[in-house]
Amino acid sequence: MTFLLWTIGLLFAVITTNAQSAGTWCDASTPVAMCFQRYSDAASGVGWGYAFPTTPGDDFIGFWTAPVAVGWVGASLGGSMKSNLLLAAWTNDANATVSPRFTTVYAPPAVYSGPIITILSSSGVNDTHQRIVFHCANCTSWGASSIPQSGSTTFGYVLHGTSKPVDPADADTVIQKHTASGKFTIDISAARSDQYPLYLQYLLNPATPLPPSIPPPTIPPISSSPSPTSIPLTTVLQRV
Ligand code: HEM
Repeated sequence: MTFLLWTIGLLFAVITTNAQSAGTWCDASTPVAMCFQRYSDAASGVGWGYAFPTTPGDDFIGFWTAPVAVGWVGASLGGSMKSNLLLAAWTNDANATVSPRFTTVYAPPAVYSGPIITILSSSGVNDTHQRIVFHCANCTSWGASSIPQSGSTTFGYVLHGTSKPVDPADADTVIQKHTASGKFTIDISAARSDQYPLYLQYLLNPATPLPPSIPPPTIPPISSSPSPTSIPLTTVLQRV
């Protein structure tokens, strides 16, 4: 049920996001109302959501969704493809992968070490969509650049409309050039949530009961009840 309800959430994203900047989007599928700053590309239906902790650290939660036919999706955490931390992501059946990359030229980016990626629960694929939810630690600075701790900044986005990476089982595999790319502004201050530790706790282990002090979701109840399905994985992929 958790895995299917986000199709409804995607509609909410369309309402709250304009063409050039991220907007507030809340996931309707979990007991915790997880809210992200999210950019949705109307042409492809791909969405890139981000949540940051209230106290600036080196981590964030990424919450990316894509129609099932999309091959891979990616981001530049500094806007341009060149000289910024890039994250390429895809699903391989039930498994989701996020692969950090870096390049100084417009050419296939090399594998980049440093970020510690943890794939979080509810990631995977169903009949219509893929969903990649991940924790990215040691991800807010690279080389001489970084994500600002507050205010607006520019992120880049990319996707390949049809093709998976060459070996989707290998995080270090060759990735073919994207078929669409662009940039959007995102308000990092708005992406910070005092509920961030709770999001992480839930996404790391959704089976653990939540603390009683947790407020109920602030989003409207969902009237329809999609048929149950399994949450396919809680896989941990670490790159040190
Ligand atoms: C695999 C081979 C790749 C090649 C040859 C390539 C090449 C290029 C080129 C030439 C552009 C300029 C716009 C265009 O002509 O489309 C561009 C833009 C971009 N690329 Fe790539 N790219 C590759 C992979 C990636 C990957 C894996 C990512 C991120 C995970 C990425 C992120 C971006 C972003 C965010 C932009 C838009 C911002 C900008 O123009 O710098 N690219 N890429």
